[in-house]
Amino acid sequence: MCGIFAYLNYLTPKSRLEVLDLLVTGLKRLEYRGYDSTGVAIDSPDNKNIVMVKRTGKVKVLEEAIQEHFSAGDYSEPVMTHIGIAHTRWATHGVPCERNSHPHRSDDGNGFVVVHNGIITNYNDVKTFLAKRGYEFESDTDTEVFAKLVHHLWKTHPTYSFRELVEQAILQVEGAFAIAVKSKHFPGECVASRRSSPLLVGIKTKTRLATDHIPILYGKADDKKLGPDQEIRPHGQSRELPVLPRSESTSEFMPLEEKEVEYFFASDASAVIEHTNRVIYLEDDDVAAVRDGTLSIHRLKKSLDDPHAREITTLKMEIQQIMKGNYDYFMQKEIFEQPDSVVNTMRGRVRFDGNAIVLGGIKEYIPEIKRCRRLMLIGCGTSYHSAVATRQLLEELTELPVMVELASDFLDRNTPIFRDDVCFFISQSGETADTLMALRYCKQRGALIVGITNTVGSSICRESHCGVHINAGPEIGVASTKAYTSQFISLVMFALVMSEDRLSLQQRRLEILQALSKLADQIRAVLKLDSKVQELAKDLYQHKSLLIMGRGYNFATCLEGALKVKELTYMHSEGIMAGELKHGPLALVDDSMPVLMIVLRDPVYVKCMNALQQVTSRKGCPIIICEEGDEETQAFSSRHLEIPRTVDCLQGILTVIPMQLLSYHIAVLRGCDVDCPRNLAKSVTVE
Ligand code: UD1
Ligand code: GLU
Ligand code: MG
Repeated sequence: MCGIFAYLNYLTPKSRLEVLDLLVTGLKRLEYRGYDSTGVAIDSPDNKNIVMVKRTGKVKVLEEAIQEHFSAGDYSEPVMTHIGIAHTRWATHGVPCERNSHPHRSDDGNGFVVVHNGIITNYNDVKTFLAKRGYEFESDTDTEVFAKLVHHLWKTHPTYSFRELVEQAILQVEGAFAIAVKSKHFPGECVASRRSSPLLVGIKTKTRLATDHIPILYGKADDKKLGPDQEIRPHGQSRELPVLPRSESTSEFMPLEEKEVEYFFASDASAVIEHTNRVIYLEDDDVAAVRDGTLSIHRLKKSLDDPHAREITTLKMEIQQIMKGNYDYFMQKEIFEQPDSVVNTMRGRVRFDGNAIVLGGIKEYIPEIKRCRRLMLIGCGTSYHSAVATRQLLEELTELPVMVELASDFLDRNTPIFRDDVCFFISQSGETADTLMALRYCKQRGALIVGITNTVGSSICRESHCGVHINAGPEIGVASTKAYTSQFISLVMFALVMSEDRLSLQQRRLEILQALSKLADQIRAVLKLDSKVQELAKDLYQHKSLLIMGRGYNFATCLEGALKVKELTYMHSEGIMAGELKHGPLALVDDSMPVLMIVLRDPVYVKCMNALQQVTSRKGCPIIICEEGDEETQAFSSRHLEIPRTVDCLQGILTVIPMQLLSYHIAVLRGCDVDCPRNLAKSVTVE
């Protein structure tokens, strides 16, 4: 999920110190993506070994370690051809520490070293397979299995090229990855590939390239005769790996007339733009290999609409622009990342085919949790709202009393806590001071402590007995967006796990699982409302206040929407429980007060319609968030946003997105600093 940077110089003399400098600078350009540790690998001066330096913490720390480690001498001798790889890690498998930092190696002799972004979901199967063949593992990461798998393939298929080895290894792994591999056995060569995580190749030559296209070579994997059960992938059995058909390695294409060339492999263009503006964006399952200074791109399978070549694009952007992709702000980027981040939260946990859910982090505690007297969900701000959003489903599927608490208030009240309580602590950073204090308070009283965090190795993660990492990837914008939807899904998954053996709840569970499988596409559909939301923002941004009303499963969206509006736009906003209207808030409504109402076809639809009528009869002119094609509801207002239908308990994920977009657009129109709202910090580590 974080950063890869690799640099290959071919016939362009550079000293190892210069290479290290380039690598560190590359990592610095990727720093904005968020990370917890770093590492590099280069050749030793005698070319007989690979040297690695890894550090937890900032790139600066790595830089200092490098200065210490590589005193001039041999490292300042120029080398004609060399490949160095570097990494910033956002831990998903194992805490941030030097041992878990990348690059990971295949063996004591550093035969193959790998940097990886993403999650290899079947790494346990691969690990078992390799352990039976004598491989010993030195880290907790999923990545390490990849290095060792390539090594195993190299031992068993000595005639394979470097590219073919990596290609075969990729066939065996599932999940999301971008990888770059370097090998002692294939000096001067680099192989990189991606699936779901971004990766591009920058090309720097003295003169302009003869072509703008790198042809794609296709393999013959379709001829494969071997059944899937002979691979590691689906069953994790310990049979020997099949020898898969090789792609046409003989017809290596020479696209470059020039001899001297430099290649950069990077997670995004911000790391290469200072060297070259000529880049190729790799597609999923492309394998890019450089050998003898020549780049080739391979794919194992060809489908009908596959192109014949990958185009070299010329970047015209500024670094600042590149970092945010096509987005103006990180928050905007993160809102639009949600179709992917929700999938990452479920990755390796939800099996849609078998309708099974495994939360590895709390699996062993489930029997204990089932015996508890109540569940307590504790958090602050957005994290608290994710608890509000899922409370009803938790009550339904666990049949336990569920208390939802703001950490600060919970502490103020000296809330009684008992040994048979199960307390959830929800925090994106895992460092939120109030939440952490509440955690310690409950732990002291003997409750079972469960963390829901986005940050492996954070305080909440360490101090909890067990928990779930939401795996949403780093969130840079101060206002939380994708972490909210991922916290939401984590709690939904927990509810599903708790009800696994309740016969009477199976129909309901199935309905939710099916809805989860469609969620990413539905989020994409909601994001298409962006320009419509922007128009609404133009109506609203000069007002002083915005009331957001709803109830049931969507009340949390009202609270979260109002919080987003407050923090980003400095406008007053209030999330109002529609059932409370008559008890006060209705007095605020007149023809000039902006009101937004969420009215979906769920069990509280009739009640929401009542509220809608109460508002319109006071001359209120609400913006309505309703279901696609619900003309009856739309008839109440000229302004409405239609969202796709999903199961009631997941609606909140789809309804919160227009709220995120709305607050974003209002903030932009009001000239506010979207990514760093005044007076606020990303991780609130003070009480
Ligand atoms: C773990 C891997 C995950 C991999 C999966 C496959 C880690 C960090 N995660 O995920 O990448 O896909 O195995 O088997 O290695 N924990 C807490 N408090 C928290 C959050 C987590 O104590 O707030 C603990 C959990 O109890 C668990 C560990 O951290 O022991 C990892 O949690 P999580 O990543 O959620 O577990 P898995 O989903 O099994
Ligand atoms: N899953 C790998 C790890 O935990 C890679 C994480 C990343 O993308 O940085 O080490
Ligand atoms: Mg823990």
